[in-house]
Amino acid sequence: MTETEIFDDVIDNLPVLVKQDSEGVKEKLSELFLDFLELSHLYDSAIEVVKTYLNILDSEFSVKFQRNPIHNIESRLKSPQSIIGKLQKKDLPLTPDSARKNLLDIAGIRVTCCYISDIYAIVEMLGRRDDFTVIKQKDYIKNPKPSGYRSYHLIVNVPVYLSTKKQYAPVEIQIRTIAMDFWASLEHQLKYKPSTVITPEISEELKECAERIAETDLQMQRIFMEINDL
Ligand code: GTP
Ligand code: MG
Repeated sequence: MTETEIFDDVIDNLPVLVKQDSEGVKEKLSELFLDFLELSHLYDSAIEVVKTYLNILDSEFSVKFQRNPIHNIESRLKSPQSIIGKLQKKDLPLTPDSARKNLLDIAGIRVTCCYISDIYAIVEMLGRRDDFTVIKQKDYIKNPKPSGYRSYHLIVNVPVYLSTKKQYAPVEIQIRTIAMDFWASLEHQLKYKPSTVITPEISEELKECAERIAETDLQMQRIFMEINDL
């Protein structure tokens, strides 16, 4: 998609009210759009900073302990459309400044680890970097969500060195085991299909699955520790 196509797409996705607004709205939005592009670049770079660090940690483990604690890393940048959509939903100003202040999940990274202990090791190593600031953290492994969802969530403020300045951007990092990811991916797929109705019975069953998977995760952790004599 070219920038013009993305811009037209954003305009098309704005509610009719905004589109019918006073003259010059399109020019103003165009200006805003360029600011959003700059914002996207900052957040995209922040993702790269974190991913590079995670890859370094993973390869260091590989060199020192002949194993990889990280199974997979995925990342995503919220599109200008969904940034604007979320700001509108929360009744917040549609400006890049407001996005920076109010949305902490513009940049997202999902790290899938092999064992539960790897998750806590990664959390500790992220916290050890003195140029990273942990703004928020939620341990949904020790305290699972009512749905049964398990993962460790962190929001880390990350420095990005640009040509003339250093800027910080928050990155949401979700860290989970392969087993937790299996459950979260399928549950998300099941729940977010518009035609699906999730009854309390189905929710209960999904929760049971999450618990059974959590037991298996603990068992795999024990086997791993036994084999490695930890
Ligand atoms: P948001 O405004 O949705 O970002 O909520 P929040 O800031 O309170 O964050 P929270 O810690 O609740 O986590 C939000 C993210 O975690 C979601 O975007 C999902 O990726 C994931 N998540 C949270 N709860 C669930 C759940 O029950 N099922 C699945 N599959 N994913 C979940
Ligand atoms: Mg979110």
